[in-house]
Amino acid sequence: MKVLLIGSGGREHALAYKIKESKSLDKLFIMPGNPGTEILGVNVQGDIDDGAFILNFCKDEKIDLVVIGPEKPLVDGLADLLRENNISVFGPNKRAAEIEAHKSFAKNLMGKYDIPSASYKEFSSEMIEEAKQYIATKNYPVVIKADGLAAGKGVLICNKYEEANAALDDLFVKKIFGNAGEKVIIEEFLLGLEASIFAITDGEDFICLPAAQDHKRIGNNDEGKNTGGMGAYSPAPLVTDSILEQVKETIIRPTLSALRNEGRKFIGCLYCGIMVYNDAASVVEFNCRFGDPETQSVMTLLDGDFLSLLYSAAKGKIDKTAVRYNGGASVCVVAASKGYPDEYESGYVITGLDEANKEAVVFHAGTKQQGEKIVTKGGRVLSVTSFIPNNDLSKAKEKAYYALTKIHFDNIYYRTDISDKA
Ligand code: AMP
Ligand code: GLY
Repeated sequence: MKVLLIGSGGREHALAYKIKESKSLDKLFIMPGNPGTEILGVNVQGDIDDGAFILNFCKDEKIDLVVIGPEKPLVDGLADLLRENNISVFGPNKRAAEIEAHKSFAKNLMGKYDIPSASYKEFSSEMIEEAKQYIATKNYPVVIKADGLAAGKGVLICNKYEEANAALDDLFVKKIFGNAGEKVIIEEFLLGLEASIFAITDGEDFICLPAAQDHKRIGNNDEGKNTGGMGAYSPAPLVTDSILEQVKETIIRPTLSALRNEGRKFIGCLYCGIMVYNDAASVVEFNCRFGDPETQSVMTLLDGDFLSLLYSAAKGKIDKTAVRYNGGASVCVVAASKGYPDEYESGYVITGLDEANKEAVVFHAGTKQQGEKIVTKGGRVLSVTSFIPNNDLSKAKEKAYYALTKIHFDNIYYRTDISDKA
């Protein structure tokens, strides 16, 4: 099989690493990829927003399967274009990707089909006065969310009326999230612990990969600003067999069925961000793709043929036996540039990658090849991901942080408590 993987982050490096193991792989292309994926396949320079270019590439190279990593090309309809041209795709069409593109769509869908989620109300910018009256009646905290895509930053947790009032001004008047904030969701604050569950689906049937937990805040103990994710671990013990069963039957199955019913069949990875409180799970968010950095950990925990899983789902008949949990544990620590998620400096030489790779898998995200050297190029630079063959997260944590001691670059920053919550 010739496969094209779209994206360039740590998530895509981890997907490439797993796809590369498949016996059915003939050739792997990654567009645009990163210095880490270069070792696993052929990096193809190209604009991932340029559908026509990608389509031509697929035709020229006779690509059998396209795997789309990030949400933006999915939301913009790349999967639709490829499917219209008879190219198999792992990733939802635009209408199904709405589940991530517009939180109002996801919330309405959950409301209509009785899928457990926080109660909410929707307001558009011209309803600012009504929104302000509404927040005056609420118990705090309340959660205010930009409706559109905001790179993981569009959720504001407000502890008192004044904060909520300022948040509404930020969204509707200052337009800090641009068009993504034209509409907002004001939602009840959910208590509990969070987990991420990836459902791989052909639109009808599905399997769940081992549950993970992300660490979204920049600082230890979940303090400071939200980021794209500072680390993850898997399996998440919070997701017991009975919680998983509940999530499958009250969240995933009804959501896939609702999407079909609405003419929006979802093929790909449905990311379910859930909150668990008093043995009950409810949805915090859906994404239309694999999560980053959870994928980095989850990929190390699969035995079997991951490419066959993706291909069978893309073809409409998922092979539910293609992969299984290998019994292990994994911790992924993100090494970032100091200053992230605000301003930071780039261009620092990274050393110790080979030594670290002896201890863990180092997935690249914000890196760049410069001559013989690899230098920093982004906020989140590397995902240092350990694997332990038995389910012992404390050993997996030790191993990830030991690998990290081998890596050096100026202004390195990472959290030191990834997986402690488990
Ligand atoms: P989202 O981008 O929707 O995942 O939201 C980012 C983060 O905000 C989540 O991972 C949660 O930690 C938090 N969050 C979102 N919605 C709620 C809610 N209704 N109650 C409590 N926390 C929430
Ligand atoms: N890890 C959260 C996300 O990928 O959206």
